[in-house]
Amino acid sequence: MEAIVITGAGTGLGKELARLYAEKGYAVILLGRRESPLLSVQQEIEANGGTAFVYPLDIRRYDEVSETAKTILKKHRVTCLVNNAGIGYFGPLSSLSHEQIADMIATNINGTIYMTKAFLPYFRLLPKAKIINIISTAGLRGKVNESVYVATKFAIRGFSESLVKELDQTNISVTAVYMGGMETPFWKGSDHIQDRSRLRSPRQVAEQIVAQENGQPEIIIE
Ligand SMILES: NC(=O)c1ccc[n+]([C@@H]2O[C@H](COP(=O)([O-])OP(=O)(O)OC[C@H]3O[C@@H](n4cnc5c(N)ncnc54)[C@H](OP(=O)(O)O)[C@@H]3O)[C@@H](O)[C@H]2O)c1
Repeated sequence: MEAIVITGAGTGLGKELARLYAEKGYAVILLGRRESPLLSVQQEIEANGGTAFVYPLDIRRYDEVSETAKTILKKHRVTCLVNNAGIGYFGPLSSLSHEQIADMIATNINGTIYMTKAFLPYFRLLPKAKIINIISTAGLRGKVNESVYVATKFAIRGFSESLVKELDQTNISVTAVYMGGMETPFWKGSDHIQDRSRLRSPRQVAEQIVAQENGQPEIIIE
């Protein structure tokens, strides 16, 4: 059974992607820091006849990512990595704390790079493998009160575009996904979005990603 690794799979878009890829017949490897949301996604997938495994992991920690990847790769035939986990703090730059800035960089940039580096050598040995990086329209253009978040998403856009070139002529495809706002726990405790009614459902966005992804370098869902 082919397996797909999804970071941030306990909530929001990651949870919807996990449900859909399980329906497509993948064994879904659910990653995130908190075990309980991951376990409920696992239970739901299994109740619907799918297969899922839980590995709690903080993607900001390089050693933890390397060790967990080794453990996963010993047990599962992983052919796809979805770098979905991400966080955002919003407001004028002067309002952001040092911790918030460091946390966005550590999660959105370092975490995505660490995960990709951990799986890439193994992917090179496979006939076909995919990396899908969940970015945002914040990776396409600057936005008011989103300076650091946008900076992290531009970084992953650069990372993705460069990997597409580095891995050209190999068996590994890299797809960057740029989507607009979604109604997920991402916005909990934030008043950055005034009108939440314009946010899309993560289910709808996940369906578009799963339907469209076919190894192309980018998907834009505005
Ligand atoms: N919501 C939007 O409007 C929107 C729009 C465009 C793009 N995006 C992007 O879509 C992705 C998914 O976001 P979402 O909206 O689904 O938000 P979400 O529900 O808050 O999901 C983010 C997930 O990432 C996990 N995570 C955070 N830090 C982590 C870490 N250090 N290690 C491992 N897992 C970590 C969280 O679980 P734990 O806290 O348990 O670790 C959570 O399950 C993010 O990259 C976000 O930037 C969101």
